[in-house]
Amino acid sequence: MRPLHDPQGRTFPYLRLSLTDLCNFSCNYCLPDGCEEHHHKQSLDVAEIRRLVTAFSAVGVEKIRLTGGEPTLRSDFNDIVSTIKSIPGIKKVAMTTNGYKMDQRVESWLASGLDQLNVSIDSLDPRAFEAITGHDRLQEILAGIEKAFAYGLPSIKVNAVLMKDVNDIQLGAFLDWIKHQPVTMRFIELMQTGNNGSFFNQYHVPGQQIRDQLLEKGWVRMARKRDAGPAYEYCHPDYQGRVGLITPYSRDFCKECNRLRVSSQGHLQLCLFSESGHDLRRLLQDDSQQDELIQEIRSVLRLKVDGHFLDQGYTGGTQNLAQIGG
Ligand code: GTP
Ligand code: 5AD
Ligand code: SF4
Repeated sequence: MRPLHDPQGRTFPYLRLSLTDLCNFSCNYCLPDGCEEHHHKQSLDVAEIRRLVTAFSAVGVEKIRLTGGEPTLRSDFNDIVSTIKSIPGIKKVAMTTNGYKMDQRVESWLASGLDQLNVSIDSLDPRAFEAITGHDRLQEILAGIEKAFAYGLPSIKVNAVLMKDVNDIQLGAFLDWIKHQPVTMRFIELMQTGNNGSFFNQYHVPGQQIRDQLLEKGWVRMARKRDAGPAYEYCHPDYQGRVGLITPYSRDFCKECNRLRVSSQGHLQLCLFSESGHDLRRLLQDDSQQDELIQEIRSVLRLKVDGHFLDQGYTGGTQNLAQIGG
């Protein structure tokens, strides 16, 4: 079947699927007041997820990244991973997590078929970590990463959202940590969302600041692979780990966008900063709806725009990234 593409000729081998918009952390840049559980609606169940991923795989999606909120809050998380992994055409199942209980659970995630893990760690200083996330869990999360390596995961990506005078001044500690670890340490520019305007104004710092420090310390920018993610990666001969920079405020960021997103309620979002999503859930109720579902996905894709002007304060309908899975 013809692979998915949009009017700009971009193709989409990659789907980010949010399993829940609930989160048990309250990161100050994302959910400063925690989750509003009373608004919570029923997330897609395993059968709906199977039908959704089967349709996307028929039109060329090969990698599914499970996101949230916090995806591991789903009690059927392992079942979801093994179900997706068994769908023909799906080569990789990845997850982005805050690392909650990872030290106890990572073995079962890998046994269910999870291939890749991205973990958020915004600071390696336990007090700063607690101030950002609202939870004193840094040591557990670091232990979880050790366990993942012990159970055979070859590498892990770690995400830190860059914040002025909070963790941009901690680059040295992050670099020391990855000296002997197969970790790609990614610094993400803080993005403005509907709910974090004043926080954004106070803490946003351009990723170029980190890039300049890396180049000064002898880090070298690596060639980008085709179908690479949003990060530009850097390596250094004395370090086992790598550094990635995700800079959505730089020009042309959207040009190589190869991601689609589906919310935990089954809405297809064409961009992190779309005004709204397109409901697919009504076409996930029976296996006989697959052709109609594929047609619907193709026709929604025609609406994907070139990109957005984040530097002009555009936030679309996105109140926080937990709502849409980052
Ligand atoms: P992999 O390439 O599979 O490792 O995915 P990833 O790096 O996109 O995964 P992760 O969930 O760790 O994403 C890191 C962060 O990058 C996201 O949470 C977003 O903050 C940012 N990001 C990823 N994709 C996009 C995008 O399309 N647009 C924007 N503005 N930011 C993105
Ligand atoms: N800006 C940048 N990154 C964010 N994340 C959540 N909210 C924001 C924001 N406003 C990141 C998390 C996690 C990933 C899923 O998204 O830190 O690493
Ligand atoms: Fe939860 Fe991730 Fe948002 Fe932190 S950034 S509150 S861990 S969804």
